[in-house]
Amino acid sequence: MKLGYVVGEASPTHVIFISKKPPRLGQYVILEYDGKKVLGIVRRVVMGSVALSEDIHDPTVVERIKDLEGERDYYIKGIIKILGDVKNLEIPRVPPPPATEVREADSSILKDVFSCKEKGVCIGVLASNPEVPVYIDINRMVSRHLAILAITGAGKSNTVAVISDGILGLGGAVLIFDMHSEYVDARFRNGDVNPISPRVNPLHLHLSELLKLLNIDYKAHRQEYYFRKALKKVYNHLKRHPEDTEMFFKLLVKALDDVAEESKSRDAKNVVISVQNKLEAMQDKYGFIIDLQAPSVLNQIKLGYVNVVDLGALDEDASDVIVSHYLRTLLYSRKSYKSTGEGLAFPVFVVLEEAHILAPKGRSTLSKYWISRIAREGRKFGLGLCLVSQRPKALDPDTLSQANNMIVLRLVEPSDQRFVQQASETLSEDLLEQLPSLNIGEAVVLGLMVKIPAIVKINKFEGKLSGGDIDIVSEWKRIREEELELEKAYNDITEEW
Ligand SMILES: Nc1ncnc2c1ncn2[C@@H]1O[C@H](COP(=O)(O)OP(=O)(O)OP(=O)(O)O)[C@@H](O)[C@H]1O
Ligand SMILES: [Mg+2]
Repeated sequence: MKLGYVVGEASPTHVIFISKKPPRLGQYVILEYDGKKVLGIVRRVVMGSVALSEDIHDPTVVERIKDLEGERDYYIKGIIKILGDVKNLEIPRVPPPPATEVREADSSILKDVFSCKEKGVCIGVLASNPEVPVYIDINRMVSRHLAILAITGAGKSNTVAVISDGILGLGGAVLIFDMHSEYVDARFRNGDVNPISPRVNPLHLHLSELLKLLNIDYKAHRQEYYFRKALKKVYNHLKRHPEDTEMFFKLLVKALDDVAEESKSRDAKNVVISVQNKLEAMQDKYGFIIDLQAPSVLNQIKLGYVNVVDLGALDEDASDVIVSHYLRTLLYSRKSYKSTGEGLAFPVFVVLEEAHILAPKGRSTLSKYWISRIAREGRKFGLGLCLVSQRPKALDPDTLSQANNMIVLRLVEPSDQRFVQQASETLSEDLLEQLPSLNIGEAVVLGLMVKIPAIVKINKFEGKLSGGDIDIVSEWKRIREEELELEKAYNDITEEW
């Protein structure tokens, strides 16, 4: 359908047009020039009147002009952003000449642009044209990482679930670090969850990871020194005589005593006592994740599954240690597989919920180091990252800028929006303006995984996820009814007595 004509001065990327009927903002249009069919998007629409200019200050003048000119004395003017030739989405070098016809883009053209012939996953439909499905290229998403950003409750976890289900459909592997136990009981259409209990063999932990669980600060050199010596003794002993986890702690306490005895330093005993206290505290607090028999994470990750590490019961420090340990193991294993054929044989898409806690801006954590290493090197080894966060500006900017793909749902705070724009080359001003007004589940989708940026209504995940909005009023009612029933049963019994 014809919408209008190009007027005034046009550039190869921006075109002014006039129309008879108001087009929708975000509507896709087609212009034919330079022997090409070119796709554009309506970015601004204004309606105005020549006769009824702003300079009129007397309402009776308006009434007189209205009587004279009739109701329809107005024009509609808009700005189109040129997206490119429909064949290859390359922007023509010449601008469209004046009087070029502007037509509504029909769905068949849009379906072609937003499809992905193979290795694609449909994540939703165009917000402006719901009959057009939008596919993302999974190869490009995994190899160039993804960030899913939005205020709380805007639909981040739903998006993760939709993408994960799509990856299952392609027979791939996802690994989710599940900070709030949202995914561990999820049910997917295209496959199953493989729950992974976050247990680690302390002998496989890096010293920095053990020190974090022990709450030994990196500046406490002497505590670290005696602990390291004691650990070495225990390590050598366990190589010869395998023991259970309980014995590991006992052996460490004993080894610390030995180290103090052997030391010439007078206050060694005091330092060792504080380390032994910390060891006891660690066993109380984190005993349930420390296990000498814990299988390696590599043996637990399965191809064709959404592998979920349930971190719901862990505090931030323990989550940091688990994520750091697992990511380090994954990266080294994939590297080794590439060079020697030994190691994890398949690529993995790793999802980090609450990424601003694991890879924060201006503060170091153990996992931040490995997250940034995978962000930089993962592409070569088939390790893709998905950073999920409701506080983008608290995220490490270097890591975020490695995410070449973004799904940005509703984002209200201007400082968050600016921060995201700085990290992304493709988030243009006009898309940025849309972010605060997006509805739940609507997102700006950009990056290499799509041919052109688009506003997409993400599909509602059809499986089951446990982190959605709670019906609070029904919860109150249910609990109250249960209490009343108990009260009644109690009264009935006491009456019988
Ligand atoms: N695309 C969508 N279509 C319909 N409903 C949606 C969509 N996305 C999310 N919702 C609904 O919105 C609610 C919040 O979604 P979700 O849990 O994904 O948000 P979130 O951004 O992950 O929130 P949080 O920051 O708390 O983790 C859920 O009840 C979910 O069902
Ligand atoms: Mg969520």
